[in-house]
Amino acid sequence: MKITVFVGTGGVGKTSVAAATGLARARAGHRCLVLTIDPARRLRTALGLTGAPEEQQVRLDPAAPGELWAAMLDVRATLDEAVRRYGDPELQPRILAHPIYAAIADSLAGMQELMAVERIDQLRLRGFEEIIVDTAPSRHALEFLDKPVAFANLADSSWVKLIGRTYKFVEATGMLSVGRATMEIYRKVESILGARLVSDVLDFYSLFVSIAEGYGERARKTVAMLRDPAVTGFRVVTAPQKAVRDARFFTEALAGRKFRAEAFYVNRMWPYDPGAGGGTGLAGELIEWYRDERSAQQAGFEALRAELRVPLAALPELDRDVEGVADLERIARNLLP
Ligand SMILES: Nc1ncnc2c1ncn2[C@@H]1O[C@H](COP(=O)(O)OP(=O)(O)OP(=O)(O)O)[C@@H](O)[C@H]1O
Ligand SMILES: [Mg+2]
Repeated sequence: MKITVFVGTGGVGKTSVAAATGLARARAGHRCLVLTIDPARRLRTALGLTGAPEEQQVRLDPAAPGELWAAMLDVRATLDEAVRRYGDPELQPRILAHPIYAAIADSLAGMQELMAVERIDQLRLRGFEEIIVDTAPSRHALEFLDKPVAFANLADSSWVKLIGRTYKFVEATGMLSVGRATMEIYRKVESILGARLVSDVLDFYSLFVSIAEGYGERARKTVAMLRDPAVTGFRVVTAPQKAVRDARFFTEALAGRKFRAEAFYVNRMWPYDPGAGGGTGLAGELIEWYRDERSAQQAGFEALRAELRVPLAALPELDRDVEGVADLERIARNLLP
């Protein structure tokens, strides 16, 4: 199995290039899935899909050997699957129906990042040969990989275990036998959050703790897989105006986390060569402006090529937005292997 993760700053074309890559890999005969963890759902437009199902196959030439699938990250569905797959069968219904469960699945900020690695793991188990991950635009573009590890460390930490154990102890023995200090803490928390909420949280925690611990273990393994250069490569997408700055930022950010940068794409490079001729009046000025702008793009590209130690490719600016397979084919022609 191979994983390719697309990263880049906002609006540079990550989703379009990820979709084009999925198309190219499917055409090469693989069973390939593009997973977008970008809530903007642009992948649908890029692939010409309708509706919002979980995993949807993209219609390609039926004679072609490969398969192209697309999936959006659905936080609730991913968490539900984790509970069903890993939860104690007797506790599952209580977990799924618990009021705190709905709150953490649907309204906790940060669940998106935590569930991304879980979803990658679930797709791996479904037997896709190629998984292409389109990431969300973010200032901290790699946050979705930092948070799961932080969570895994937290789930390991003794205080989290302590709360779980204390609660079980309290439940088993009744509040009376709990030490004074513990009672003080519960009273304080209850006076802030309300008694009902505290007991709900603790009750939920005691049900959920094994799933959270299991999640932590899987997240660690998935992140290790994303660090394994034999399995995963990161591809950075950038735009001509910010190519050098982005390349430096992402080279450092990826290396700092021990992820392998395997390719850089400068997307939306102007493809038409206006030649040497000019014109008069406004047309002449426009041609000159285009020529200057285009040579600045190319100079930037060459400077980047000299600086980078990984393969670099230019992707052409299309004459319209990327919509559907035909447009993706045009981008796919210039992709790196
Ligand atoms: N090579 C291209 N030529 C023309 N338009 C393009 C090209 N690449 C991307 N676009 C257009 O630019 C816009 C942004 O592209 P896309 O959604 O792929 O970027 P993104 O990096 O995923 O954005 P976000 O950071 O918001 O997720 C879209 O309207 C898309 O159609
Ligand atoms: Mg996107």
